[in-house]
Amino acid sequence: MNDHHQPYALITGAGIGIGRALAIECARRRMNLALIDLPGSGLEKTIQHLKKHFDVDIQYMKMDLTTPHSAEKIYNWSREKDLTVEMLINNAGKGHLGSFTDYDHTFYEKMLRLNVEAVVMLTRLFLPDMKKLENAYIMNLGSIASFYPIPYKIVYAGSKSFIYSFSRGLKQELENSSVTVSVLCPGPIVTNQEVIQRIRRGGLWAKRSSMRPGKMARIAISQMLRGKAVIIPGSLNKFFRFASRLVPTKIKQCLLARKFNVNEKI
Ligand SMILES: NC(=O)c1ccc[n+]([C@@H]2O[C@H](COP(=O)([O-])OP(=O)(O)OC[C@H]3O[C@@H](n4cnc5c(N)ncnc54)[C@H](OP(=O)(O)O)[C@@H]3O)[C@@H](O)[C@H]2O)c1
Repeated sequence: MNDHHQPYALITGAGIGIGRALAIECARRRMNLALIDLPGSGLEKTIQHLKKHFDVDIQYMKMDLTTPHSAEKIYNWSREKDLTVEMLINNAGKGHLGSFTDYDHTFYEKMLRLNVEAVVMLTRLFLPDMKKLENAYIMNLGSIASFYPIPYKIVYAGSKSFIYSFSRGLKQELENSSVTVSVLCPGPIVTNQEVIQRIRRGGLWAKRSSMRPGKMARIAISQMLRGKAVIIPGSLNKFFRFASRLVPTKIKQCLLARKFNVNEKI
């Protein structure tokens, strides 16, 4: 049995997709795991897989991060279990595609609670304990969408821009501490149906810039441990980020609107 004073990586949304891949990569590096996901998510299956393949301790909590006081409940749970959280990976997040008025206000309310509020609250609660450790790491899930206002994905892109700004600012504030902050900004990662459809519609470039979650997780964790501020997996995505700086905003907006307008035939 592992000692709870050995460090843990706390990962939200760890049942499937990128969160699952990050959990596997942390386990591969012998980190104990504190996993959070929605009730009824794929978390049990992920835990079974982890237990079968890795000798690490796994604690888990089922929690809907859009519910009030969810971050406090997670923090209190980790204190009760006496877990030393050395890595905080704020992964859980939700996307959408469509015109702004295609979704009602409660949809956006939940999305902002998950993509923005939960990240800020968990970070605020865990940071003081993390500062006491010799080394600690926070990694927040941004996206390539962090860098652009994307028509037909405006609230998602806005939430990811917030995460980018929050993470970079906090990294600077913590410059003289033992805690590093990274923002992970992947392009399309082959996880859920929405992304798979988007990669199909996006053609060759989308396929070329897409990546499997396992590969992305290896890059992400190794760069996080090196204290990288902004992690963009894949050279094509890095190139897009660079090249987009040279394109005037108006043109960028038109191109993105064409790419993401699902009502327009491509
Ligand atoms: N996939 C991509 O192409 C891509 C690209 C850039 C950035 N990202 C970001 O990466 C992160 C993970 O993306 P993904 O593609 O792996 O997404 P995903 O496949 O939808 O997985 C998200 C995870 O978060 C969980 N979750 C959803 N709502 C939650 C809530 N209210 N409380 C707690 N957990 C919740 C999900 O549980 P359920 O399974 O039960 O829904 C799932 O385990 C997100 O922040 C996303 O914005 C993704």
